[in-house]
Amino acid sequence: MTPLHILYSNNKELLLSINFSILPVKKTSRATRRKKERKMALNLNPIALKYSHKYPSFALPPKPNRKSPKFLRASTLSSGSTEVESLKKPFSPPREVHVQVTHSMPPEKIEIFKNLEGWVEENILVHLKPVEKCWQPQDFLPDPASDGFHDQFMELRDRAKEIPDDYFVVLVGDMITEEALPTYQTMDPRTENSPYLGFIYTSFQERATFISHGNTARHAKEYGDSKLAQICGTIASDEKRHETAYTKIVEKLFEIDPDATVLALADMMRKKIAMPAHLMYDGHDDNLFKHFSSVAQRLGVYTAKDYADILEFLVGRWRVEEITGLSSEGRKAQDYVCGLPQRIRRLEERSQGRAKEARYVPISWIFDKQVKL
Ligand SMILES: [Fe+2]
Repeated sequence: MTPLHILYSNNKELLLSINFSILPVKKTSRATRRKKERKMALNLNPIALKYSHKYPSFALPPKPNRKSPKFLRASTLSSGSTEVESLKKPFSPPREVHVQVTHSMPPEKIEIFKNLEGWVEENILVHLKPVEKCWQPQDFLPDPASDGFHDQFMELRDRAKEIPDDYFVVLVGDMITEEALPTYQTMDPRTENSPYLGFIYTSFQERATFISHGNTARHAKEYGDSKLAQICGTIASDEKRHETAYTKIVEKLFEIDPDATVLALADMMRKKIAMPAHLMYDGHDDNLFKHFSSVAQRLGVYTAKDYADILEFLVGRWRVEEITGLSSEGRKAQDYVCGLPQRIRRLEERSQGRAKEARYVPISWIFDKQVKL
């Protein structure tokens, strides 16, 4: 039996494995994953969805009823003060509140995905970026080995001087979200290793990242840093490509198994799309993700409105309203998801209407400067 892996490579994204399986997956090292990624192979085999990503959601999990095991932050420094500091501040970020459900998809559904192999090869692999077109952030930055480095560096500082602190908070949060993907793989996105849930989840999150990086690009341009705008815009276009791939897969699922797919969409939306970025931690701020999300919301980089817009976009993209022949459960799910964007918007308007006290918090990413939430 061969696994089906769709391997993306853009030098930045982790391998996005699409795993169709009812069996648990053995964890692999990052090096191994990279090796696999380089092969850009299409395999078939039992798998579990492995997640990259990412972005802030307005669907944060509720407060936990049990805490993650705490452990001290690892440090490479040997000074006594560091040790004391570490003892004072144990690592305490991710909080999961639900019991994880694994492998909820009925085994007989596996055949559906096995039969999709040829379709995936023809329709999804075309979205892989050729290796020669891959990029690294340093491609856009001055080369320290070049003669003009000092001048170019000063120019970079000059370009960035109009950029406000709160923009940097969002930019850093966005970048950490992308760079720290392996760390986030331990989170439970509540997709239960079901490809139905998994592809809906990734469709949503890829579009969320496309929107957020697109907005950081737009803001960077407004602040006069065209180079930074170019970097953020390049990331946004990669995210768009990922969104296209995942939404195509879900579109196909709606075509061949509309009832299960609409039920999965409703299920995922009831659970809410919580992005792995909520596990981010800087060793200081236990509410870092919340603070980062608040700043992103205030700057309009990623907002509650975007959450509703993404859902509305996907419902339209998959023509959910037009599906016929559903079971009664399926029709209920259809009604629920089609009406949900409006409900989210109404709730958001109500919360906007409530007077909020301006709050400032220090953010370690910008040397503990105070940032308005
Ligand atoms: Fe992506």
